[in-house]
Amino acid sequence: MESIWAQTCEIKARDPLHGNAETEVAVIGAGMAGLLIAHMLQEAGFRTLVLEADRTAGGQTRNTTAKITSQHGLFYHKLTQTMGMASAKAYAAANETAIAEFRRLIQERNIDCEFEERRAYLYGSDRETLLAEAESASSLGLPATFVDAPTLPFPVSGAVCFDGQAQFHPLKFLRALSADLTIYEKTRVSHVEENRILTDRGIVTAEKILFACHYPFVNFPGMYFARMHQERSYVLALEYASNLEGMWIGADENSYSFRNAGRYLLLGGGGHRCGENSIGGRYEALRKRAKAWFPGSREVAHWSAQDCVTVDDVPYIGRYADSRPNWYVATGFRKWGMTSSMVAALVLRDLLTGKSNPAAAVFAPERFDLKSIAGIVKEGAQAAKGVSRRLLKVPKTLAAELPAGHGGVVLFNGEKIGVYKDENGRLYPVDLTCPHLGCQLEWNPDEKSWDCPCHGSRFDRFGTLLSGPAQTDLPETVAQGQDESKP
Ligand code: FES
Repeated sequence: MESIWAQTCEIKARDPLHGNAETEVAVIGAGMAGLLIAHMLQEAGFRTLVLEADRTAGGQTRNTTAKITSQHGLFYHKLTQTMGMASAKAYAAANETAIAEFRRLIQERNIDCEFEERRAYLYGSDRETLLAEAESASSLGLPATFVDAPTLPFPVSGAVCFDGQAQFHPLKFLRALSADLTIYEKTRVSHVEENRILTDRGIVTAEKILFACHYPFVNFPGMYFARMHQERSYVLALEYASNLEGMWIGADENSYSFRNAGRYLLLGGGGHRCGENSIGGRYEALRKRAKAWFPGSREVAHWSAQDCVTVDDVPYIGRYADSRPNWYVATGFRKWGMTSSMVAALVLRDLLTGKSNPAAAVFAPERFDLKSIAGIVKEGAQAAKGVSRRLLKVPKTLAAELPAGHGGVVLFNGEKIGVYKDENGRLYPVDLTCPHLGCQLEWNPDEKSWDCPCHGSRFDRFGTLLSGPAQTDLPETVAQGQDESKP
């Protein structure tokens, strides 16, 4: 099902690239980050074009909850300890500047995008933890205070309140912002070589290349696959629910997020690492919460989102790798994609124009020291687990035993494959080997998709690529479309 943003805003389609092109700056990805970056660079005088594999804002941007905020969960107390006060202050200031920049752009261009000033709250069960978070955030110059009695439909021990935050309709914003940008849709990038971008529609030569495609797909150099993973979460849009007067997120594990959008309340939760949802039931769990907390409410939409998470929870914004001085990247925004996209646009604009930016070192992808090694080892171990699961684990389910409308890992003619069975009993087998780096895909019953537990690539029930870092569909197996009666 489409998000309420996608249901209420159409962005004009653009033509694909026809033949070759040359430009000063090529941006890969026409989501919030790519378009803000392109906009900022075009304003700074660069000739810029944007390449998009699908449609403008057709990826994660249409599935966001669209909060513009420097309130990033239970984060600042930890950040001051891991990065130090100076870097944590620069991170906080960069995000506050991003909020102000959204406000300025929207006001100056008179963009009709339901922009509303809202407080952002972090609620939780541990008062001491929340007090420490409020104090740390405040000491970094953020507009944060502790509040005792949040207005939520369940008991909590308090909340950290950030003033001066905002929310909006992301697609209405991008519809206006993208009007004067050169965008080529349905143009999938297959390779990038120095200053040449190879697509299925032609070759683009660019002095500078920016990867703003959610997950950078060039494995070497950069090795982003070794220092980032993806997480999924789920959202319900409810009508006839409460007006909670703010944007809320929980500090405890498995907690929920809330924000009103016009007459709707968005209830989010059910987060898990991509590829680790074989039991499913995420939407049903949200529906149960909705019934308990907002009796009389009615679901009008549900959708899910996917976020890239770095090993230290700070985005990677800056040069792609030492060996590619003209490549840049913006990724790893966790749940804060709107604000981090604007941070990326401002940091990258300054990098490309040679202007000093106090936050550049904080977000630089090459920032790692010994502290990060544990995270990198953890990502590597997860990937190894994904590969070994493919090699060693033998599934017990046979294709014939799968209920209609379900998928799973099965034995099929003595081989382990993935199979989706449609309502008529027709089988759609896929090769379970992820085309990115070879991990075994897992079935996600909530989205009826094949998801990769290593780096988060996703494919629909028939094996068509939904999102990377993989760049190709799953290969068809010989049993494609075979009838259940002939396994
Ligand atoms: Fe990397 Fe699947 S996404 S192996």
